[in-house]
Amino acid sequence: MSRSEIAILGLGTMGAALARNIARNGFRLSVYNRHADKTRHFLDIYGAPNIQGAFSLEELVAQLERPRRLMLMVPAGNPVDAVIAQVCPLLDRGDIIIDGGNSHYTDTERRQSELANDGILLLGTGVSGGEAGALWGPSIMPGGPRAAYEAVAPIFEAIAAKAPDGQPCVTYLGDGGSGHYVKMVHNGIEYAIMQAIAEVYDLLTRVGGMSPLQQSAVFAEWNRAELAAFLVEITAHILATTDPDTGHPIVEVILDKAKQKGTGKWTSQEALDVGVAVPSITEAVEARILSGLKEERVLAAEHLAGPRPTPNEADGHRLVPTTRDALYAAMVVAFAQGMALLDRARTEHGYTYDLGDVAAIWRAGCIIRAALLEDIRAAYADEPTLVNLLLAPTFREALAERQHTWRETVHIAIRHGVPVPVLAASLAYYDGYRSEWLPANLIQAQRDYFGTHTFERVDEPGSFHFEWA
Ligand code: 6PG
Repeated sequence: MSRSEIAILGLGTMGAALARNIARNGFRLSVYNRHADKTRHFLDIYGAPNIQGAFSLEELVAQLERPRRLMLMVPAGNPVDAVIAQVCPLLDRGDIIIDGGNSHYTDTERRQSELANDGILLLGTGVSGGEAGALWGPSIMPGGPRAAYEAVAPIFEAIAAKAPDGQPCVTYLGDGGSGHYVKMVHNGIEYAIMQAIAEVYDLLTRVGGMSPLQQSAVFAEWNRAELAAFLVEITAHILATTDPDTGHPIVEVILDKAKQKGTGKWTSQEALDVGVAVPSITEAVEARILSGLKEERVLAAEHLAGPRPTPNEADGHRLVPTTRDALYAAMVVAFAQGMALLDRARTEHGYTYDLGDVAAIWRAGCIIRAALLEDIRAAYADEPTLVNLLLAPTFREALAERQHTWRETVHIAIRHGVPVPVLAASLAYYDGYRSEWLPANLIQAQRDYFGTHTFERVDEPGSFHFEWA
């Protein structure tokens, strides 16, 4: 067989699925896993004339045409450094490593400069869509040297998901760690949307008195209109699923402690570092942390006063229409915050991606794919210098129309004692952003009072201190 066009290193769930996608699209592919059994298993099940297995890195490298293209599908962190250290001595100048995991963008930039000494190009590439996405078409977010991108573009374009207009969900995002940066923000938005959906489920359950199956029908219906989104679709499916062992809805036998691998937290940390407000994302991270305190919560539930949510006919009746609007609004706000962070990163880190292009490659394949991404893409196409997505005419109007019901949802939640951190934080962000005047004047006065930190005045330029005593 002639030399392979690309190698996949790491045949875990995502690596194996991506390898099958590449092979199905007719590319000559080599596969390698550090445990030979896994490679053999992959070849036994998915072997095809265009796939070669390799049982050492030397063998793998020898199977590749030049410039060699090696895609790492290994867990982020130390494993990426370890594989790079092993493979690097076997490579030549101009060869390309693609890191397809959720690496932190600063790690990617460090590795890029280390590898540049040997003339090896590293493309930090976000891949979203889980196993099914990797297999049938993920959204791909590559960043790094342009030459590296050009060398893999035909493969990426073939294997990527296709948006409704037929465009592949991949584009060159620019230098450095821009690809992993965009993927990090994608995940932050993912956290916010997931939590907002969970809050709606909580309200419909505890105040609406609706069973998971009844809610499934609601989410399925929402998924046919403006709320159409992968996360809404899978929620409808999850809520209709029964646990075969107990006969209960599966969602009710799953423990209420959310885990995380860290990408949502990274988004919040980064946003704090560069001074961009992303409260919906941060509240979603915080909600996962609070959920982890299960034992404490069980205790506190006995001791802390407050309304005990019980199904309430009048409010419950209102909740289906109001949560629909609140969820839509929260999704828009989560995207607005994510986009604001991506925008800031262009000045902070010198990234050059276009926000409309980012929205375009999120339209299919990835976890946050949603019908409204087409509106987001169009908003940036119409106005590339849009300062905040909320100001785009489409979203301005959409949120204006949903004002009342969005607030009503948060109202109902507060009255019944149901925590809705993301729905409420999204609304507070919206109200904060549209406030011409915020009480930050008092903050400035306090800062100056206790620490002579000075303030600016409304009537005169400059920096002032007041003698408070
Ligand atoms: C994707 C996902 C994926 C992520 C999981 C788990 O885009 O396919 O974002 O990359 O790893 O969603 O993330 P947490 O464990 O942090 O929830």
